[in-house]
Amino acid sequence: MGYLMGIDVATSGTKCIIADEKGKIVSSSFNEYPILSPQPGWFEQNPKQWWEAALLSIREALKKGNIKGEAIVGIGVTGQMHSSVFLDEKSEVIRPAILWCDNRTEKQVGEVHNLFGRERFIELTCNPVLTGFTLPKILWLKENEPGNYKKLRKVLVPKDYIRFKLTGEFAADVSDASGTSVFDVKRRKWSSEVIDKLELNKDFFPPVYESSEIVGKINEETAKLTGLKIGIPVVAGAGDQAASGISCGIYKQGVISVTLGTSGVVFASTDTVKIAPEGKLHSFCHAVKGKWHLMGVVLYAGGSFKWACENLGAEEKKEAQEKGINFYDTITKKVSQIPAGSEGLIFLPYLTGERTPHQDPNAKGVFFGLSLRHNKMHLIRSVMEGVGFGLKDSLELMKDLGIKIEEIRLVGGGAKSKMWRTILADIFEFPVHTLSVEEGSPYGAVLLAGIGVGIYKNVEEASKVIKTGIVQEPNKENSSVYKDSYPIYKEIYINLKGSFKNLSKILG
Ligand code: XUL
Repeated sequence: MGYLMGIDVATSGTKCIIADEKGKIVSSSFNEYPILSPQPGWFEQNPKQWWEAALLSIREALKKGNIKGEAIVGIGVTGQMHSSVFLDEKSEVIRPAILWCDNRTEKQVGEVHNLFGRERFIELTCNPVLTGFTLPKILWLKENEPGNYKKLRKVLVPKDYIRFKLTGEFAADVSDASGTSVFDVKRRKWSSEVIDKLELNKDFFPPVYESSEIVGKINEETAKLTGLKIGIPVVAGAGDQAASGISCGIYKQGVISVTLGTSGVVFASTDTVKIAPEGKLHSFCHAVKGKWHLMGVVLYAGGSFKWACENLGAEEKKEAQEKGINFYDTITKKVSQIPAGSEGLIFLPYLTGERTPHQDPNAKGVFFGLSLRHNKMHLIRSVMEGVGFGLKDSLELMKDLGIKIEEIRLVGGGAKSKMWRTILADIFEFPVHTLSVEEGSPYGAVLLAGIGVGIYKNVEEASKVIKTGIVQEPNKENSSVYKDSYPIYKEIYINLKGSFKNLSKILG
């Protein structure tokens, strides 16, 4: 029996999973690394640590599953999008990678929009430039570290760096390239107009492929370090969100996914490129040939909930420890006693700024409507509801673009919690389904590898391995409460937008 391997270079660590040809996961291993923050709003990682974690995870996954290296017939890679690895002429890393969540490039974003005109830039790349994307980071390097910029020969996203280490080949895939702001998403190729006008070297950007295409083979060095066999085919793979879309069976219009992890993502497949007004949703190439996807990102979704629990739940943490039960379940049990709508308390989940719909790095978290009635469980419930409203913003933008929603599939850590499923179904006024496989992006990488090596004919066939699980129906009464508070949630940001900007000036 042959096995497929998926490697996910995520923000918290690198995961390697192995699945059999029927799509059953038989082994997995995960190794963490830190996020470095040398200045407020700056987030970096050392690519060497990704590589070490990848090697360790591959070795451990093979060992745990008792699988020989030669039994692996195909490998797929995925990882955090937009994060930028800068390589010199010897293909050595020049400086720490600047991550997707880094906010240092507001100036460069403004410069690009001024140079091209925001509308024209959206025409060229289907998206506005955002602070976390790749292009403004290259321009930041040019302006702030000219010595490093002079050495620059290649710019890669994390999974492309790891694939380069595995195979010795430079390559990019259409889904991750879409998040660089240097890519003509409509035509699925690098944008020569962007490259020329900004006087970038076109060789910075590797050849680009469709996600399931084989782009390299395991080289001798990797074989020695991991036990994998020389020559195992490695496919182009996909950015973590497109790969997660594949793992949820999102490849045709109608079925959309909501991923609730640290960030929250609403993801829909489209047959043509669709662009929301002002580019408020990301319009990227899908990891499926001839398809695109729309995506809305709540930057700090599950992250906001964790923040609230950590800061307000000391008592529950103690209780959970004493009883040997889960901390978050202890909290959500108490949160379930608070009525829907948190008795008028509304939270804006913009603790790290916001992408969709505001594209505003200066936005901040807000509790609105506090009164003497409210206790800390109201605060936590309103945080969960605020995240739900943030995700609804993306759903509404999609509906306005004519995207039909026939089924919502909920994945990520939040999908495991009944409380989250209930709040989201009530806010969306729509049933939410969970899935039988919970692995997300690395599982998408496995399926792409399976298509690349011919185990599956196409995504449709690969998706047959995906089965839905629990269905949470919305409760009409709760939905009606949320229907009343959602317009107020939207109004609060509009009213505070200027104050967020003023506050950021004070904070520097
Ligand atoms: C997507 C995005 C994040 C990162 C990290 O646009 O920025 O999802 O890919 O996971």
